[in-house]
Amino acid sequence: MANFSLTEEQSAQLHDVADRVGTPFYFYDANALRQRVADLKSHLPDVDFFYSLKANPNMSVVSTLVGAGTGAEVSSRLELETALEAGAVPARLLMVGPGKSETDLERAVQLGIKAIVVESLDELDQIDRIAAVKGRVQSVALRINPDFQVHGARLAMSGRATQFGIDQSAMLNAVDRAESLPHLRLAGLHIYMGTRILQTKTLYENTRQILNLAHVLIGKLAEPLDFVDVGGGFGVPYFEDEAALDLANVGDALRPLIKSFLDKNLKTRVAIELGRYMVAEAGLFVTKVAQVKMSKNEQFAVCDGGSNLHTAAAGQGFIRRNFPFTLLPATPRALGELGICTMTGPLCTPMDVILSAVDVVDPVAGDLVCIHQSGAYGPSASPVNFLGFGGPAEVMADGDQLTVAQAAPAWQDRLAAQRPKPVRPAKLPNDAPLPEPFNHEVLHRITPLKGLFEKVGTALENDPEAWTTLWDDTTVRALTTIGVPDSHNGFSLAETDLGISDCSHALHVAVIERLAQFDPSCILALPGPSLSGGAVLAAGSDDQIDRFFNAYRSGPQGTFFAVTEPEVGSDASKGTTIVTTNSDGRMVLNGTKMLVGGVARAKIGLVFAQMENTGAAVLVMLSPQDHSDCLTITRLPASGLAGADLCHVEMRDVPITPDMLIGARTPGATTLRDGFMAINGVFERNRPVVAALALGNAAGMLDRLEMAGHATAFAGMRRRYASLLGRLALVLEDQARGRPRSHRISEIKHQAIAFSDDLVRRIPLQAATTMFTDPRLRRKMRDAKAFEYMEGTSNIHLLNAFRSFASEVPA
Ligand SMILES: Cc1ncc(COP(=O)(O)O)c(C=O)c1O
Repeated sequence: MANFSLTEEQSAQLHDVADRVGTPFYFYDANALRQRVADLKSHLPDVDFFYSLKANPNMSVVSTLVGAGTGAEVSSRLELETALEAGAVPARLLMVGPGKSETDLERAVQLGIKAIVVESLDELDQIDRIAAVKGRVQSVALRINPDFQVHGARLAMSGRATQFGIDQSAMLNAVDRAESLPHLRLAGLHIYMGTRILQTKTLYENTRQILNLAHVLIGKLAEPLDFVDVGGGFGVPYFEDEAALDLANVGDALRPLIKSFLDKNLKTRVAIELGRYMVAEAGLFVTKVAQVKMSKNEQFAVCDGGSNLHTAAAGQGFIRRNFPFTLLPATPRALGELGICTMTGPLCTPMDVILSAVDVVDPVAGDLVCIHQSGAYGPSASPVNFLGFGGPAEVMADGDQLTVAQAAPAWQDRLAAQRPKPVRPAKLPNDAPLPEPFNHEVLHRITPLKGLFEKVGTALENDPEAWTTLWDDTTVRALTTIGVPDSHNGFSLAETDLGISDCSHALHVAVIERLAQFDPSCILALPGPSLSGGAVLAAGSDDQIDRFFNAYRSGPQGTFFAVTEPEVGSDASKGTTIVTTNSDGRMVLNGTKMLVGGVARAKIGLVFAQMENTGAAVLVMLSPQDHSDCLTITRLPASGLAGADLCHVEMRDVPITPDMLIGARTPGATTLRDGFMAINGVFERNRPVVAALALGNAAGMLDRLEMAGHATAFAGMRRRYASLLGRLALVLEDQARGRPRSHRISEIKHQAIAFSDDLVRRIPLQAATTMFTDPRLRRKMRDAKAFEYMEGTSNIHLLNAFRSFASEVPA
């Protein structure tokens, strides 16, 4: 067996963590986790790996593994949400387990995960029913308990009578049933034979038998399977007589088997789900000696954590044998003779032994005992609450960086959770059916963008260029260029996985609402055509349209729309930005605009101005780079909706040519006024977008509150949200019928913002702790304040009030 000693440096680091975080704790090494995934992929390149969260559901561990390229296998709501928050996309999630709850299944269907692994015939019916209600088709995999057995696993899960999966004898029945149910799609086969396998030949036998069965089964199916999950069960050595798996050897044995299967089944992938093997060796458990004493001639060292935190090391579940360990003396001291000592935890049972009669030199109180091979089935598989000690801290080292990956829960919080509260019969409306278009299939398909939006939303706080990460995503690109005429659009929706080739205005608003749930700031940062695009299309000449949209054939193009002025707000009719004609007959533009979104990085946009000679309103199309010497663009300080990138613009004698003026040449329009009526229509169409942004951001806050256990307290707000979406849907329906009702448009915008404000007001009253502990929630609360500036109001006071308020709200 390998040598498990620690270097001086590692020992010092563990002492340091003990001093700073307290004992007992678990310690994970991020680089070791990444290395494990890299090794697996290099030896088994044709396999899709899934990390089984059951082995260690710590979010930092999961996000390291997901970041290294694994999918995730989950069994509960917490595991599911952990995987999502750690960055796993639904398309790489499997849900496995013999007793999934109805609500967990609903959530999985809502997300449209890669597959729910079905463990009984009844569960097939249950998922079909749930998917029918949601108007979805859910992919499922059948977990089969085969007739064969594989010998060599320390714990066999299949091949005998168990609660897992569907017997092989009933497999064809299950296939018929799955294929006949309209809301299910049979996507995979799953067989999990057992765990802690340490022999290549056992893994070979396991994989061979499963792939054989899969091949026969696929031959009988209407459609080929997407994947066969052959389980895994790769073990790590814990005891002296155990040797580590030789991964090169495993790769050499499995690769030909897998290749031959893939060659015969071109549409099917092979998946392996591993828990222990991915994490065990990257984790240590560290506990401190509290007392050393003799009892009837035997020495005992009682530690502050034992089987309550590390059941596996205490042999509960396996046979009672010692895990590898290292004693880290509290202070350097002359060491005496090797003696025999039993290390125990603090529990009231003689079973609480983590190291039984080990050879060790003189342990004293304050020494650290470090148990190796401890990254898997640690705290989450241990009775952490026995005697009230509570869970341990978990610490992750990533290179030089140390983070507390799980704080040990405070006794105060655990006590608070037990103070009696009345049981309320709460029917939570989170999953209540939503009206068209807010229930559109596309909205589920964009769910995988959530992690990306959250990440970029945070980055935008400090870096206005962070939007480029969004633009790297094909789906985001196509969504950004909705509104660009097909003739100029190089990023068609048809090239995405969204299943649509064009997008109605109503659906576009629903998409924005959904994306705002993830992060509204990102939407404002995206370089789309926005309002000015609509205005150019409504009132520009063919040449102007071509000039405005040309860049979208091949890349992003930031745009801006400058209306608001310091003295008059956004009441365009009172603007003082002016186009004058010099004595030599040349036109120049002068004026000041404020709260102009994105102009600092825009390639083109419109400035609302007046012609000095006629007093007529006009839109001037400008490319800021072409006039940099006549423009001063200053970014405004604002802490909400950073992606809006609000700026102040001063224009001094910007030379204007007639082809930059928009408004007079609308096809069919005889006067400038006709052009502006068309532009006004564009504004009216876009106004519901503000409501969508505010509602989406509010729904994002509700999601976070519900995740933190406040679903009941905020159930009323969730209902109000659903009813406001209903009203917004009616406004969109009017618009789609060509009969927009302006007052309703205005009403829903105000209602949405009032609702969002109300929610923000309630959070500190009803969920203060969550507000303090959830930075994402706080950011959404801050963003909510910023919708005020989108009010389109002419009230300069309101605008200024917003600006000073937003810059004072703490991050
Ligand atoms: C269905 C299933 N998948 C995956 C695992 C993870 O096993 P291991 O940690 O041995 O890789 C288990 C363990 O019980 C399991 O039951």
